[in-house]
Amino acid sequence: MTLSLANSISSLNSVALGDKKADLVLKNCNLLSVYTREIIPKIQIAIINDRIAYVGPNAVHTVGPQTDIVDVKNKYVSPGFADPHLHIDQFMLPSEFAQKALLCGVTSLFSDPIDIVSVAGYKGFQEFLKLGEDLPIRIFQVVPGGLPVDAKFSNSKTLSLLQEKSAIKHPHVLGLGEVFSWTKVILREPKTMKSLSTMLECDCIINGHTAGANEKKLNAYVSSGILSCHEPINFDQVLERLRLGMWIMIREGSIRRDLKEIIPYVLSHGTYLNRLMFCSDGLDPLDITKFGHIDHCIRESIRLGLQPIDAVTMASKNNFDYYNMGKDLGGIAPGKLADILIFNDLKSFKPNTVYVGGKLVVSNEKIVIPIKKKAISPWIKKTVKLKKFTANDFLIKSKKKDVIANTIFMQTEIITKIGSAKLHSNNGYVSASLDSDIWKVAAFDRIHGTNRHSIGFLENFGSDIGAFASTWSFHENDMIVIGSNDSDMAVASNYLIKNQGGLVVVKSGKILASLPLPFAGIISTDSFEKISSNFEKINNCIIDSGSKFSRPHLIPLFLPFLALPSVRILSGGIVDVKKRNYIQPIN
Ligand SMILES: [Fe+2]
Repeated sequence: MTLSLANSISSLNSVALGDKKADLVLKNCNLLSVYTREIIPKIQIAIINDRIAYVGPNAVHTVGPQTDIVDVKNKYVSPGFADPHLHIDQFMLPSEFAQKALLCGVTSLFSDPIDIVSVAGYKGFQEFLKLGEDLPIRIFQVVPGGLPVDAKFSNSKTLSLLQEKSAIKHPHVLGLGEVFSWTKVILREPKTMKSLSTMLECDCIINGHTAGANEKKLNAYVSSGILSCHEPINFDQVLERLRLGMWIMIREGSIRRDLKEIIPYVLSHGTYLNRLMFCSDGLDPLDITKFGHIDHCIRESIRLGLQPIDAVTMASKNNFDYYNMGKDLGGIAPGKLADILIFNDLKSFKPNTVYVGGKLVVSNEKIVIPIKKKAISPWIKKTVKLKKFTANDFLIKSKKKDVIANTIFMQTEIITKIGSAKLHSNNGYVSASLDSDIWKVAAFDRIHGTNRHSIGFLENFGSDIGAFASTWSFHENDMIVIGSNDSDMAVASNYLIKNQGGLVVVKSGKILASLPLPFAGIISTDSFEKISSNFEKINNCIIDSGSKFSRPHLIPLFLPFLALPSVRILSGGIVDVKKRNYIQPIN
């Protein structure tokens, strides 16, 4: 959808001088200038094709008989917002997410499709790229830089160096996504170093992930050309990274909300703002409805004391400067793509009107442009490669009558520790114990169609259900099944095989709630409203049955996630993350 600036300069130059007439002129704009951090009244903006040709006090010389003139009536006009790091390969198709993002003023998304690649490799990456094209929003992609999370245990698909090289030739692929195993970098792991060198040679961006790194390790990481991080959870971590020349994406999304811990200190310290951005890292359907997207970051930052113009600059210009796209995007100035928001006031920060590339896409807070659903290749809806289950597939054998189980103890929906529980065996098999809040948990390889699987015990889930299962799990995408009894675990698994993916809650053989995710077993093909309703039902059903956690959907998603402490389950076995070894489910 983008004409290059190189092909537009003659036409832009002519309109700026009045030798050629504009397609659209916005007059009486209160312009939020991200270049000077001031609000300039009575500005007129002339646009031809998809770019801005003129910004100044009087655009009358650019007006011809065909020019559309819009009187903004002294409302506030800002550049479109960007989310510089998110995983949009979650829950919904890009066409559904785009509509929600545009209504929040987000006109550019920088997507890291790590889960699509973990399920479907390069073919999946290409399929996902197609879904992001021809939408009235800009979707830029990076090659996932975090796979495999840990080659010793991970079962996910990943891209070869050759495929990475081929991917970055695509005009919308900007570089390498969050390199979240910083240990691979400081150990100078050969494939990682080759991948980093390739990106640097091709002048591509490399996104970082430096949770837990500091001092010399952080220096080694930054010296490898990785210049951003969205992991700081407090101001000290922000400052340490800024001082090393990094750019910080302050995360405010469904996984974490860090603005409150960072913005007040940014203000009291008088920190230079030019290398600060906001990012979501991914939003679930309820959060985007309840909070919004980058517009929420702006509102929240202003509430914490930031000036509106500074918040808008962090939400727009800084992102494009980081991605080396400042000549095309980030502000309202001659030559820039006309991604423009119009606000009634500087409090709600909900845009009344949104233009993307000079085209009106939102008017009166409603999408006014048709957004087509793309055809989906049938193969991507057949990724749950498992055979039908019976209750016997979940048995754990023991010759002993009394056993000590090494449990995965859920401290939060995300964080686990190794627990221990006394269990009894019946006829040579050890069962879960709902009375003691001890559950069975299983992980199955559903990507490669092998029989690789593991079964163990999980503690402290606290819900009166039979089973909870998911084919989507960060970034392994094993099928995870949690259950109080083996037969409901089989029913849940078979439901997911039949529907080729999703989340499902089962009790006494009945499906209580489900969220089908047939696209690679991680994305729904339904409307946002349907997805949102199913998502809410899944969580409410578990919460109402007594769960100790308020966001139980996160439990199967994070159970195999090796980048967090302390114990994880993958199809290869139960992993002690710190010791980097497998542990047995029972002693
Ligand atoms: Fe991320």
